Amino acid sequence: MLNVALPKGRLGEKVYALFAKAGYPCPEILSDTRKLIFENSEKGIRYFWVKPSDVSIYVERGAADVGVAGKDILLEYAPDVYELLDLNMGKCRMCIAAPEGYRDDENRTLRVATKFANITRNYYASLGRDIDVIHLNGSIEIAPLLGLSDVIADIVETGTTLRENHLAVIGTIAQISARLISNKASYKFKQDAIDELTRLLREAGKEA
Ligand code: PRP
Repeated sequence: MLNVALPKGRLGEKVYALFAKAGYPCPEILSDTRKLIFENSEKGIRYFWVKPSDVSIYVERGAADVGVAGKDILLEYAPDVYELLDLNMGKCRMCIAAPEGYRDDENRTLRVATKFANITRNYYASLGRDIDVIHLNGSIEIAPLLGLSDVIADIVETGTTLRENHLAVIGTIAQISARLISNKASYKFKQDAIDELTRLLREAGKEA
C-alpha cells in the first residue's frame, strides 16, 4: 500500500485528477464528505488530505510515503525528502514587491514582510543586504500599505492581489510549482512502486 499526502484545496483536486488519470483512482474522494482518508485497496493506494504546508511534514516523518508539495514549502523548510517529479501544476513565482513608485535606500535596513522567512533571508544574504524580516501568516500585501514593512516577499500567481493593492514586483526569487516528494526510507523499501507511480504521473502529465 502506498500512502499519499495530497494538499487540500483547489491544487489538491487537480493533483488527484492527475493521479486518477495515471491509474490510481479512488472515486470516493470526490464524494461530498468530510472524511480525510480514502483507500483503493485494489490499486494499493491510500490518500490523505492535509494542509498544503503540512504535506512535507507527513512525508519527511514517514506518515506518508509520497506527497505533493509546493516548491515554496520545500525551499522554506528544506525537509529531508527526495524530490521526484515536477508536476507542472500550481505554477507561480516567489517575488519581492513594493508599493508602486517605491525607491529603495540601500543604506537602511530593509523591512520585509513575509510568510517565507528562510527564503527571504537566503535571498537577501545572497545580495549582501541587511534586512529585518517581519514574519506574518497571511494578507502580506497590506504590510507596506500600513507602514509595517518597506516591501514584501510573497507568492504571485495572476498578479491580481498586487495590482489591486497598488504594489508592483521589483524582483523574482524563484519559480514555483507542485513537486512529487518521497520519504527516504519508503523510497528504499517501496522503490518499484514509487518509481512506477512517478513514471505514470510523468506520462499522464504529458498528455494533459
Ligand atoms: C496567495 C499569495 C498572494 C496571492 C497571489 O495568497 O500570498 O496573496 O495568493 O495570487 P494572485 O497573484 O493570483 O493574486 P493566499 O490566497 O494563499 O492567501 P494568504 O497568503 O493571504 O493567506
